[in-house]
Amino acid sequence: VSAISNAASTAAQWELETYRTFCSPAEETACKVAKVLFVACVGSRQNLVGFAAFQAILATGECGLENMAVAEESRRSGIGRRLLSSGLLWCRGWRAAAPWDSGQDENVWLEVRPSNRAAVHLYLKAGFIEAGRRSGYYSHPIEDALLMRRNTYLLA
Ligand SMILES: CC(C)(COP(=O)(O)OP(=O)(O)OC[C@H]1O[C@@H](n2cnc3c(N)ncnc32)[C@H](O)[C@@H]1OP(=O)(O)O)[C@@H](O)C(=O)NCCC(=O)NCCS
Repeated sequence: VSAISNAASTAAQWELETYRTFCSPAEETACKVAKVLFVACVGSRQNLVGFAAFQAILATGECGLENMAVAEESRRSGIGRRLLSSGLLWCRGWRAAAPWDSGQDENVWLEVRPSNRAAVHLYLKAGFIEAGRRSGYYSHPIEDALLMRRNTYLLA
């Protein structure tokens, strides 16, 4: 997962330890944040070619896509779309299971560089809409973030 992320300059560059928190239920419970890492594996050897990391904040019901990438040679074959769908269903599952008020946030949120055409198209196609901008959010190079959201009630 780390190698795929490192090879994609537009993916978030995390320490290995951060990925581990997405694979450790004990830590999730301690910090009241549920985390999940979906991976896509292909071929007879089940090579890992993509991942998507989601989290849900249990107190507020706020869910977010934190990071995702697909290995370059496996792009444009629907893997990103499938990873995203899996995460959206996971977020909806959390909402259904947790005792939040009906007034709580029912969206999945994400930030993306507006210049990241592939990702913006992927998110728009998956039903995300623009919800605002975060000024100077990214560095190297500096760029605003496009804030996007997707209501999980409307999932097919
Ligand atoms: C963004 C990314 C995850 C998409 O993964 P993918 O597996 O190639 O995406 P899919 O094949 O599922 O594409 C689904 C839709 O996204 C859009 N899309 C994907 N790549 C695109 C591109 N290069 N240009 C325009 N639209 C694109 C299309 O609408 C596509 O549907 P279509 O193929 O029917 O036209 C991949 O390009 C990637 O890993 N990029 C680098 C890391 C990154 O930027 N992560 C996001 C950080 S916010």
